Amino acid sequence: MRFPKVFALFIGLSLVVLNAGDSPNSIRIHADQGTETISRHIYGHFAEHLGNCIYGGFWVGENSPIPNTRGIRNDVIAALKEIDPPVIRWPGGCFADTYHWQDGIGPRDQRPAIINSTWGGVTEDNSFGTHEFLDLCEILGAEPYICINVGSGTVQEAADWVEYVNSGNQSPMTDLRKANGREQPWHVKFWAVGNESWGCGGNMTPEYYTDLFKRYSTYLRAGELYRIASGGTDQDYHWTETVLQKTENYRHLIQGYSFHYYTVCHGWDKKGSATQFDENDWFHTMKNTLVMEERLQRHIELMDKSDPENRIGLMVDEWGNWFDVEPGTNPGFLYQQNTLRDAVTAALYLNIFNNHARRVKMANIAQTINVLQAMLLTRDDQLVKTPTFYVFKMYKVHQDATLLPLEINCEPYRYNDLTIPAVSASASKDASGNIHVSLCNIDPNRNVGVAVELRGVGKLTKSSGSIITADAMNAYNDFGQPEQVNIRKFLDYKLKKELLTIFLPAKSVVTVTLE
Ligand code: AHR
Repeated sequence: MRFPKVFALFIGLSLVVLNAGDSPNSIRIHADQGTETISRHIYGHFAEHLGNCIYGGFWVGENSPIPNTRGIRNDVIAALKEIDPPVIRWPGGCFADTYHWQDGIGPRDQRPAIINSTWGGVTEDNSFGTHEFLDLCEILGAEPYICINVGSGTVQEAADWVEYVNSGNQSPMTDLRKANGREQPWHVKFWAVGNESWGCGGNMTPEYYTDLFKRYSTYLRAGELYRIASGGTDQDYHWTETVLQKTENYRHLIQGYSFHYYTVCHGWDKKGSATQFDENDWFHTMKNTLVMEERLQRHIELMDKSDPENRIGLMVDEWGNWFDVEPGTNPGFLYQQNTLRDAVTAALYLNIFNNHARRVKMANIAQTINVLQAMLLTRDDQLVKTPTFYVFKMYKVHQDATLLPLEINCEPYRYNDLTIPAVSASASKDASGNIHVSLCNIDPNRNVGVAVELRGVGKLTKSSGSIITADAMNAYNDFGQPEQVNIRKFLDYKLKKELLTIFLPAKSVVTVTLE
C-alpha cells in the first residue's frame, strides 16, 4: 500500500514524533515473557453438508470435468494449502445431529439418497462420507474433527463410528472398513459429542445433555480421544456451569468444551447485506465482534474455577460473520459474499483467540467454502479467494508460536455517540525466534500511528511487513474480476532498537515480522 505525497509527509512526521511514551496509541510487547503456545488449531476450519460447502465446494466427484483428486477439487486443494489448514470440523453443525454415518460408506452408487432436512430440504446423495472426508484431511495435512450424532443417533452408532475409524483390532466394524478399501485406521483424535444440543441438536436442558454426554463419552473408546462437549448459547453461563459441575468426577471423559459465537450486524432479524452497507453497519459489525472478548473472558473464568489445572480446552468451533444470503440464492444455503469488513473482523477475532491461547485450544471459522464467512467461493470451475482467506494466510505465522503478552492503549473509534477501541493486536515468537506482530485498525476513516515497545527483544537485524486493505470498506473479490483485496507489501513502519513505530492506514490489517 503506497500513500500519496501529502500522506507520506505525514507518515514521516509521525515516525519522528511517535514513541512509546507520548503516542496516544501504544503497545508494550513483553518479548521475553512468552509461556503459552498459540495452538495451530485456532486457525481451524468447518465444513458442513450445507449449501455448496461440500458439494460443488470441496467435492465434485471423480467423473467431473473440473480437475480433481479422487473427487476433491484441485483448485480448492491448492488454495487451502496456502493457508495450512490445521484441522477441519465435519459433517456439521446442525446437519451432524441428523447424519447416520453408515449412509456414507461403501460403493457410492449404492449409498442411500436422503433429504438434508436442516439445510434447504435438498437431496443428499451421501457421495461424500467418512472415507472422502478423511482422504481430504490427509491430502491437506489437516487433522480431522468429527461431530457425532447425539440428537437423532444412538450410543451404539457413535461407538461403532469411532471403532470403524480408529481401531487396529479385528471386529465387524474394522472388517467393514477394510472391505471398503481402508486397511489402516486413521487415528482421529477430535470428536464432538453433539452440536448445539440446546437447539438444533435436540433442544435439551443442560442437565439432560450432560448425562447424555457422559453416556456417549463412556463408549467412545478406540484410540486416544479428545471428547468435546456441546456448549449452550453464547450467553448461557448456566449451561457451562452445569456441564462443568456435573462432569467434575468424570474428567477422564471430557477434554474440550465447545463455544459458538456469530457476529450479526444489528441482530438476528437484521443481519444486513454482506456487500451493501454503510458506516453504521460497519461500526456495529465491529462492535458485535468485540463482544467475543467479553464472552470468552466469562467462560474462561468459569472454566478456571472448575478446572484450575486447565485440562479442558475451550473450543470455539463455530465463529464468524453471518449476513443475509446473496439475493436470488437459496435461503437455506447461507451463501454470502465477503468484503474487507470480513477481513478486519477475522483479524479482530484471531487476535482475541491468540491472546486467550492459555484456554482456547481450537477455533473453526464458519465455513470453509460457499457458506457464511468463507475462505473460498466457487462457481462451476471458477474459484475466488476471499479477503478472509488472506487474513488466514497472513496470520498463519502464529500457528504453534509462543504467545507474547502485550498491553495496549489506543484511541477510540467514534461513531456518533458510540466508541470502541480502534486498534487490536497480538504477537508471537515462532520456533526460529522470529517475532510476528499483527494489528488491525478498525476505524474506516482515520489512519493511526502506533508506538510498539518490544521489551526485552534483544538484537534484531531484519524486518518485513504485509498489509490487507482497500479504498472501499465493501471491496470484495469476484468471479472473473481482478482481485480487489489481497496481501500487499507494507513499508510504513520504522524499527529503532526496541521501538517499532507503525503507521496503520484506516480499515487495515497488518503483520510485521522481526528477525
Ligand atoms: O454454521 C451454520 C450453523 O450455525 C451450524 O450448522 C450450527 O451449528 C449453527 O447454528
